Amino acid sequence: MKNMSFFAISVVGFSLIFNAVVVSSQSLSIDCGAKGGKDEDGRTWVEDTKYLPSSENSVQVQAGFQDPSLLSTVPYMNARIFKSPATYKFSIKPKQRYLVRFHFYPSTYQNFNVSNSFFAVTAGEVKLLNNFSAAITCQALTQAYVIKEYSLAPSDSDALHITFTPSANYSNTFAFVNGIELIEMPNLFGMMKLVGYADPMGADLVDTSAENLEMMFRLNVGGQSIPPGKDVGGLLRSWFYDEPYLYGATLGVTLKADQNLEIDYQNISKSSAPEDVYRTARSMGRDSDMNLKYNLTWEFHVDPNFTYIVRLHFCEFLYDKPNMRASNIYINNETAQGGVESADVFIWAKGKGVPVYKDYAVMVSDVEGDENVKLQLSPSTVLKPRYYDAFLNGLEIFKLNDGNRSLAGKNPEPSVMMLQTENEKPKSFTKAEDDYVIVGATGGAAVAFVVVALLVFFYTKKRKVDGTESHTASWLPVYGNSNVGGSKSSSNHLATLAQGLCRHFSIAEIKQATKNFDESNVIGVGGFGKVYKGVISGGTHVAVKRSNPSSEQGINEFQTEIEMLSKLRHKHLVSLIGFCEDGGEMCLVYDYMARGTFREHIYNNKKPNLSWKQRLEICIGAARGLHYLHTGAKYTIIHRDVKTTNILLDEKWVAKVSDFGLSKTGPDLNQGHVSTVVKGSFGYLDPEYFRRQQLTEKSDVYSFGVVLFEALCSRPALNPSLPKEQVSLADWALSCYKKGTLDDIIDPDIKDKIDPECLQKFSETAVKCLSDQGIDRPSMGDVLWNLEYALQLQETADSTKSRSSSGREQGSVRSTEDGSVGHRREASGRSVGSELELNESKDESAIFSQLVNPTGR
Ligand SMILES: *[C@@H]1O[C@H](CO)[C@@H](O)[C@H](O)[C@H]1NC(C)=O
Ligand SMILES: *[C@@H]1O[C@H](CO)[C@@H](O)[C@H](O)[C@H]1NC(C)=O
Ligand SMILES: *[C@@H]1O[C@H](CO)[C@@H](O)[C@H](O)[C@H]1NC(C)=O
Ligand SMILES: *[C@@H]1O[C@H](CO)[C@@H](O)[C@H](O)[C@H]1NC(C)=O
Ligand SMILES: *[C@@H]1O[C@H](CO)[C@@H](O)[C@H](O)[C@H]1NC(C)=O
Ligand SMILES: *[C@@H]1O[C@H](CO)[C@@H](O)[C@H](O)[C@H]1NC(C)=O
Ligand SMILES: *[C@@H]1O[C@H](CO)[C@@H](O)[C@H](O)[C@H]1NC(C)=O
Ligand SMILES: *[C@@H]1O[C@H](CO)[C@@H](O)[C@H](O)[C@H]1NC(C)=O
Repeated sequence: MKNMSFFAISVVGFSLIFNAVVVSSQSLSIDCGAKGGKDEDGRTWVEDTKYLPSSENSVQVQAGFQDPSLLSTVPYMNARIFKSPATYKFSIKPKQRYLVRFHFYPSTYQNFNVSNSFFAVTAGEVKLLNNFSAAITCQALTQAYVIKEYSLAPSDSDALHITFTPSANYSNTFAFVNGIELIEMPNLFGMMKLVGYADPMGADLVDTSAENLEMMFRLNVGGQSIPPGKDVGGLLRSWFYDEPYLYGATLGVTLKADQNLEIDYQNISKSSAPEDVYRTARSMGRDSDMNLKYNLTWEFHVDPNFTYIVRLHFCEFLYDKPNMRASNIYINNETAQGGVESADVFIWAKGKGVPVYKDYAVMVSDVEGDENVKLQLSPSTVLKPRYYDAFLNGLEIFKLNDGNRSLAGKNPEPSVMMLQTENEKPKSFTKAEDDYVIVGATGGAAVAFVVVALLVFFYTKKRKVDGTESHTASWLPVYGNSNVGGSKSSSNHLATLAQGLCRHFSIAEIKQATKNFDESNVIGVGGFGKVYKGVISGGTHVAVKRSNPSSEQGINEFQTEIEMLSKLRHKHLVSLIGFCEDGGEMCLVYDYMARGTFREHIYNNKKPNLSWKQRLEICIGAARGLHYLHTGAKYTIIHRDVKTTNILLDEKWVAKVSDFGLSKTGPDLNQGHVSTVVKGSFGYLDPEYFRRQQLTEKSDVYSFGVVLFEALCSRPALNPSLPKEQVSLADWALSCYKKGTLDDIIDPDIKDKIDPECLQKFSETAVKCLSDQGIDRPSMGDVLWNLEYALQLQETADSTKSRSSSGREQGSVRSTEDGSVGHRREASGRSVGSELELNESKDESAIFSQLVNPTGR
């Protein structure tokens, strides 16, 4: 080619958790609106002016602030803004497929208001985005930035024009972009079956080799997320774990190939997927009878009116014979493989440890409720395999361009759940000082307002303390997409989004923060290693969890924690600020919780014990954190180790749930074996989980019941020094409750301060949590509601004691009439129409007056 080669031969080294895998590839990363530089992973990004023949209509800008979730300042902290159409020009190889990735960080850019930014992006003839709002998209996905990835069909041209066009119909509108990647990729796309159409003439086949695609989801099924640097073929793809997309209560089990098994790619491209994808899988489980009764199901929200390619990656790593297990595959209720054609991966691949992938095309209409890609696996019985089981190793979903060569969908709409959660957090895009005023307006119902006001109260207090709000004020992702609240159109690009999502610290920074891991800074010791307090640059107080390098368990929990915590931000969850994987050290850096654990403030310590009301408030905070884990994402996240030492307190006594090391995501450590090892802490373990080894969110509810009794009785969950029947707090409290002698075991220090009605509500709730069967236990949302109610009873009692109630009833009655009760109930996750327990109160209006007028809070 006569043109100068635009492709720097870049050596890409990326390291997240393990050491970097070095790959070389024909790739170009450009840092738009900036001089370029290296990102946190050492990859070089170059200046964009060279590729922008006319840059008059554009402005180079710097982001107003760095969201803590940004992994790297390059390319996010700078952007190029276009006020009129502008084109980047790249020279490319004809007949070569290209992968293009765009990075958008809708921050504050000088006088440009990103809320006004709507634009189109085309690549040659292909419309990639139209009327696109990065701000709306990020808001809906609860991400600070969004990455869009496309695969462009081979063309005859030796130039690629990428054009940004601000939407015509908005005033002050503009287009912007922070980074563009352009990578040569093998043409991994070919002919495939269109599921749901059986055409003997072969019209049910779709040829995608010359089509343009948008990557929607890319998952390492049954395994852990794989960062770009660990991808193969220099494609720098991110693979995410699949659990958030699993549908239904049954999650199957995760499997891992024997370490010594070699993965032999044979005749599929090595670029198809990294070995790690093929070394882990999710299968239905060991119980054939059980497996026949359900489908292993994943569900993905997509833009309607497009055809999607569903690529399933398989590798049989357990058996070395055919017909050991075979599965039916359904996509959107239609059979993709079944009957005599059911999937026997061993036969497809012709060997053990040989990867293979299968592609299926499916059309997704805009019929309400069908805007999904649903994948289901079940055991095939027709082939009479040895085991009734089905499994999957990896999955990718691509959107196929339509007849007009367009891939553009609508902007997503934030889900109701998202908006609710949004109300509980400070805005991340604007640093306005009075965001919480908006909360009052949008929250609508007065009751919901109070809940928020409470949070805001803590928050405003907190931000006065020091510079720490830079991260505590931050908010980042739920499992983005969640259309939990019923909103349907939140287009679901989580998989393309943010890898890692937290800061990378160097070992030097960590050592400086902790005075070289000085023993005097140790604030705790756990299975993982020691925890140090420290101060990072800028004066932020942190807790640094330093791993014990020899523990494999440690590595897994380390990864799990990064994955869980970096994606979950909530007022009542401990925030992960970043991590360090450097110089043979693995450290996690958290927000420092000045007051330590809940436990040390209720018994066995030299500090003064907490009052009853403080305990109640802490229980409510923890319940809110757990409720968020269970419902804040489309799919439930189970904490698995709820206990008083995992509830931490910040300087304002705000409760934060911590320690996600055991949260259910990681692959099974027993290589190649199907098992669910019971984990958790004795004294808190759900008996049902123990018996059936089946984990549900109700196991957390059980453990939380124990926490509630600990708070009430000020004694440990297990105390072996007591008489046999009293050793377990759960058993003892239940039997006392039944006998009506609960009063006898309440902490004498607080006993007199507890209002009898409040105690009744509280103990009733705790007892329900300890129900033997999960199904009889309340949801965390119900628990939260009941605890809040108990707190109101207590406060009402306290205030009627101190002063006579007057004048305030009127307003409160109105507020219950205008539906605020229903609203409140929704906010705590209850379904409208379930039994309303408020009627029990004889002084309802007084309670609601408190809800409406949060005086004294
Ligand atoms: C940005 O624009 C949106 C919508 O046009 C408006 O609501 C918001 O107040 C603006 N923000 C600033 C900082 O001007
Ligand atoms: C933009 O506005 C013009 C005139 O108001 C209208 O004709 C055109 O259809 C609009 N375009 C879009 C995409 O809405
Ligand atoms: C989908 O296509 C149909 C028919 O072309 C059209 O009526 C409908 O508005 C489209 N729906 C969306 C969400 O674009
Ligand atoms: C699949 O079947 C379920 C249950 O019958 C139904 O609710 C759903 O809408 C169907 N989905 C599609 C894509 O047909
Ligand atoms: C599994 O899914 C398929 C397709 O939706 C359905 O026909 C079948 O009845 C399901 N099987 C079970 C056991 O639910
Ligand atoms: C390998 O490729 C050949 C021809 O390209 C094909 O016939 C064969 O089925 C492939 N083998 C596997 C295991 O896919
Ligand atoms: C292509 O665009 C035209 C005009 O906007 C529209 O009528 C047609 O339905 C589109 N075709 C497809 C396949 O979307
Ligand atoms: C552009 O997107 C916004 C936000 O999703 C939507 O409200 C508006 O109707 C869209 N405009 C056009 C012309 O599609």
